[in-house]
Amino acid sequence: MVSAGNQSGSGELIAILGAGSLGRLWAALLPSGHCGFLPRRENVSRLGRSVSRQDVPPETRCEYVLVRSVPPFGANAPASRQRSRASRPWLAREVLRTPPMAPQGFGRGLLTASPVSGDARTHVTLPWLQSAENVALLLVTTKAGDTLAALEAWLPHIPNSTPVVLFQNGLGSQQVVAKRWAGRPVLAASTTEGANRPSPDVLVHAGAGDTWVGALTASAADHTASVVKQLAETGLRVHSVDNILERLWQKLVVNAGINPFTALLDCPNGDILASALYQQNIDGLCSEISALLEAETSEAVASEALRERIEAVARNTASNTSSMRADVMTGRKTEIGFINGYLVQCGKRHGIATPVNQMLTERVQGL
Ligand SMILES: NC(=O)c1ccc[n+]([C@@H]2O[C@H](COP(=O)([O-])OP(=O)(O)OC[C@H]3O[C@@H](n4cnc5c(N)ncnc54)[C@H](OP(=O)(O)O)[C@@H]3O)[C@@H](O)[C@H]2O)c1
Repeated sequence: MVSAGNQSGSGELIAILGAGSLGRLWAALLPSGHCGFLPRRENVSRLGRSVSRQDVPPETRCEYVLVRSVPPFGANAPASRQRSRASRPWLAREVLRTPPMAPQGFGRGLLTASPVSGDARTHVTLPWLQSAENVALLLVTTKAGDTLAALEAWLPHIPNSTPVVLFQNGLGSQQVVAKRWAGRPVLAASTTEGANRPSPDVLVHAGAGDTWVGALTASAADHTASVVKQLAETGLRVHSVDNILERLWQKLVVNAGINPFTALLDCPNGDILASALYQQNIDGLCSEISALLEAETSEAVASEALRERIEAVARNTASNTSSMRADVMTGRKTEIGFINGYLVQCGKRHGIATPVNQMLTERVQGL
């Protein structure tokens, strides 16, 4: 059993709820000794109970190999990042490679990064936490559809003053969490980092990006700067933003215009552009999003400008596999309900017809 108090003398423990691709990326890069994973709550009693000789010992450490296809630190990395590198000697063994730069979705590493790629491999070992009473920062990296249940299980055991940062793509889950725990400091992050797991114990950091963090609840505003500072200790680019919902909307627009087509056509991002499915629906989709954007955020963006934005990203990430296509390929539930499905719900609220979003949502749900 590993308790929170064992991890940091100062109690400045960062817990990660959701030990998947994105959670493992942040965990691997945060200063060692200050970070651990929260398991599914149903696994906690199993972790905590005494083990008889006949039992299989409970897993107390999460071990995996980090493969970075992007350089962790540029030549001009600030001193704080160099210091954080010194606290993680394994980083020094890494081979710096040309970054594929993934503005969204997954980089080339999804299916091609080899778990036996020599010096680029790094072993990461972090604890599964059982106690969360000393958690000073909670990063939530579950999928959007799992977030509410995961937080309902853990938040009663975490101090009310602990900032909670939601990393989910799409929209809908963030607002539900902020409403449910309005008195807590809840923040959201929008990130263009790309990470994936070609096998259960291998994590590929496939694309370098940026992460924006902003407050969702009133009491979170005071925490934004310190959360950004803590996350920047990873060496990743992290920024604070006043209106995180606006930033999440910007990503939603691009995801809504690329992800369902890649899933339905089973192709990389760039290949959607010439397809009949895309050509026949993109103008209708952008008209719907333009009307919804204005109704929800008062931002007036012409549908032609939205189409240009979507196509620029599809071209810049032409060989990438979107997270939605990856979910379909691996038989996992997609986040369509929080992307195009969220837009359908917005349309219902505002009396705006959304036939293209509805069609894309239903077709992806039927895959
Ligand atoms: N990966 C990226 O590059 C990236 C980039 C930007 C944004 N995002 C967003 O970040 C979120 C996470 O993405 P991901 O790719 O990391 O997904 P993922 O690999 O599927 O990871 C999600 C993790 O959450 C765990 N989980 C689910 N329910 C839980 C519960 N009740 N308690 C504890 N853990 C639970 C899952 O466990 P099981 O494996 O046991 O199901 C899984 O390990 C998504 O919203 C995604 O859109 C991801």
